[in-house]
Amino acid sequence: MQTRLIHATAPGAIDEASDCLGNGGLVGLPTETVYGLGADATNGTAVARIFEAKGRPRFNPLICHVADLTMARQLISLSPVARRLVDRFWPGPLTIVAPIAEGCPVHPLSCAGLPTLAVRMPHGVAREVIARLGRPVAAPSANPSGRVSPTTAAAVLAGLSGRIDLVLDGGDCAVGLESTIVRPLEDRIVLLRPGGVGRDALADAAGLPVVDHDGAEGIVAPGQLRSHYAPAGAVRLNATSVEPGEHLIKLGPAEVPGEARAVQVINLSPSGSLVEAAANLFAALSAFDDPAIARIAVTAVPKTGIGEAINDRLMRAAAPRD
Ligand code: TXA
Ligand code: MG
Repeated sequence: MQTRLIHATAPGAIDEASDCLGNGGLVGLPTETVYGLGADATNGTAVARIFEAKGRPRFNPLICHVADLTMARQLISLSPVARRLVDRFWPGPLTIVAPIAEGCPVHPLSCAGLPTLAVRMPHGVAREVIARLGRPVAAPSANPSGRVSPTTAAAVLAGLSGRIDLVLDGGDCAVGLESTIVRPLEDRIVLLRPGGVGRDALADAAGLPVVDHDGAEGIVAPGQLRSHYAPAGAVRLNATSVEPGEHLIKLGPAEVPGEARAVQVINLSPSGSLVEAAANLFAALSAFDDPAIARIAVTAVPKTGIGEAINDRLMRAAAPRD
C-alpha cells in the first residue's frame, strides 16, 4: 500500500480524508496533542486495521473522537460533573471516560468490550474531518506500538508509511503530549493518564478533588505499558551532571555540570517553559532513538501543570524493557 501525504490546507483535503475514513481507510490526522491514527469508529474492520497497522500486542481500548456535543451524547452519558469538564476543556486535550450510551454506534472493538468509552473532541483539522464524516473516529496515537507518539506528519510517515492510506499534514502539534484521561465520578475526578490539561485546572473546573487511579472502584486503567516511548538506549532521569559518553536532554538556560562532555545536547525549552518542553519532548526522544546511542541523561523537570505529564512519559521512557 502506498501512503499518500496531503496538506490539510490543500483544496479538498478535508473531503478526501473523510471520504477515505468513510470507505474504511486509515488516516493519520493532526490534533492539538499528537497525530492520531484514525478509522471510522463504527466500522469494525477499519478499527481492526488500526491494531494491525500499529502492531499492537493486544486490543487496547481506543479514544473515540467527536466533532460536537451531540455526537458525544450518542456515545456516552455525560454526568453533570463530566459536563463541567467538557464545557471548560472541549475542544481540547481532555479525554472523558464514561458509561456507554444506549444505542451507541461505536464498534465493540473500539472499546475492547468495556462498559465505558473514552471520548474526546479535538481542535481544528481533525474536528473538521470528523464533522464532514458525521461519525466518530477511533484514533490511537499514529505510531507503531511502543514507539513515541508523532507530533509531525513526517514522524507519522517514518513509522507507518505503507501501512496506512493517507496522512493529513497539519504541521506541528501544539501541545505535543497525549490528552489527559479522566473518569469523572460524582464526588471526585479519577486521573487515569496525566496529559495536556493539568491536575489543578481539572480540580478548578469541576470544583472537586482530583485523585490518582488506585485500581479501586472497578475502573480499568489505561493499558499503557510501563516501558513505553522508549528510545533504544538507556535513559537516566533527574541527572544533575553529564557522564562521559552520554547524550543530554535538558530544560532551561542553566548549564548542566559536565555539559561539555555530552555527545549531543537537546534543550526542550531554552527559556524553561514547560509548555514548550511538552511540545518538543517526543521529537527529542525520537531524535535520540538510535541503536548507536547507548545512554541518555535527562535533567529534572518540575512536576507542576503539564510537567506531571512530561514526567509520566519520561518515566515510561526510562522503565526497564519488557
Ligand atoms: O491525545 C490523545 O489522547 C491521542 C490523540 C490521537 O487523540 N490519542 C491517544 O490514544 O493517546 P492512545 O490509544 O495512544 O491512548 C488511549 C488510552 C489508552 O491508554 C487506553 O487504554 C485508554 O486511553 N482508554 C481507552 N478507553 C478507555 C476506557 N474505557 N477506560 C480506561 N482507559 C481507556
Ligand atoms: Mg499511544
